[in-house]
Amino acid sequence: MENQKSKIVNQQSLIKFVGIIGSGTMGAGIAQVAATAGCSVKIYDTKTEALEKAKADLEKIMDRLIEKEKIDSEEKKRIQNNIQYVNSLKELKNSDLTIEAIVENLEVKKNVFSTLEKFVSDDCIIASNTSSLSIASIASALKNPERCIGIHFFNPAPLMKLVEVIPAIQTSEKTLQQSIETIKNWQKTVAVAKDTPGFIVNRVARPFYGEALRIYEEGIASFVEIDSAMKEIGNFKMGPFELMDFIGNDVNYTVTETVFEAFYFDPRYKPSFTQKRFAEAGYLGRKSGKGYYNYSENGEMSVRAQSGTFSKENVAAEYIFERILVMLINEAADALFWNIASAEDIDNAMTKGVNYPKGLLAWADEKGMDWCVKKMDELYNIYHEDRYRCSPLLRKMNLESKNFF
Ligand code: NAI
Repeated sequence: MENQKSKIVNQQSLIKFVGIIGSGTMGAGIAQVAATAGCSVKIYDTKTEALEKAKADLEKIMDRLIEKEKIDSEEKKRIQNNIQYVNSLKELKNSDLTIEAIVENLEVKKNVFSTLEKFVSDDCIIASNTSSLSIASIASALKNPERCIGIHFFNPAPLMKLVEVIPAIQTSEKTLQQSIETIKNWQKTVAVAKDTPGFIVNRVARPFYGEALRIYEEGIASFVEIDSAMKEIGNFKMGPFELMDFIGNDVNYTVTETVFEAFYFDPRYKPSFTQKRFAEAGYLGRKSGKGYYNYSENGEMSVRAQSGTFSKENVAAEYIFERILVMLINEAADALFWNIASAEDIDNAMTKGVNYPKGLLAWADEKGMDWCVKKMDELYNIYHEDRYRCSPLLRKMNLESKNFF
């Protein structure tokens, strides 16, 4: 408990008053994080029910933390007293920082941003928690777009360590530095990402799902076999199909489709028909009781008849693991090649944002550049698809390691 308390509150932070727009899953979680760190938070939603739900949910979360002896009742009171639930955007006028977490719709977000700008002071940072929209396009709604930035939390916000901070081309250095400092004060790990589709995590993680689906669609292995290979050999906490069921096949499919379109239909991000059909059928995963697996009322997972063992080639688990891993490494290397983020932030993003057992660039070093390039070229030689093109960075580093330069 002491530990928890000592982590709290860096009152030196310039940010004291925080406004959150949208009290759904993400907004409520972000409000809890800011309030725990000692900020005075006002959370606004157009729906009274959403505000009431956020308040009731926080009460339950606080009680669970007391049960687990993570906090005491005094701490619960302190956190709850730091949050006010408000039903007008105008109430956020004293904010030093506002974070928007409303519906993922560009026009709606732009409207809210331009209205908000009329109420807040000139110094107030106006941030968006968007997962898929460009920060530059949201910022363009503001008279002073230099104050706009992406601050992207992961779900559940109070538990996930990573926050991606995304400056748009309009964003000032001051806004960027103040945002980084604030999020660090909130005890989070910051990864700074370029304003490009999927930022870091939602871009680099694509092959975890996409290559697993492809291996399944080719009839190489079943859902269960692919999941086992990734967990047993790769030490991933969840296999790709378990994870897609957890995220929801509708949500995960939409992210893939959005990233694919945003990258001008680069075949590396091509969505899968299997997942599309699962989403269309309502086999969404855990939340609908049925996905690649079945889920009982109490959340227990069981194998569905169709997902059993039918692989025609009986390939080694090693092949499955290495094929997915090298595609992930290739994606991480390419993100570094295109300066999406630093090597450190790319590795931190995957270990702290999606709990990968190791950073992908560290994994590449461990396997060796020669291995990475060879594996990618083997795939390319079989398929001759652009999807399997090796990142120029891996090729360059491989040559460097052999002293060709
Ligand atoms: P949600 O649907 O749980 O909550 C959205 C809330 O915004 C609702 O309570 C709704 O009443 C409110 N709202 C809608 N329009 C509004 C407006 N004009 N003014 C004020 N409130 C309004 O959505 P969720 O999942 O919390 O997502 C919010 C944002 O966070 C989206 O941009 C999403 O892309 C992003 N995000 C979501 C993650 C997730 O795992 N759910 C993860 C990271 C980012």
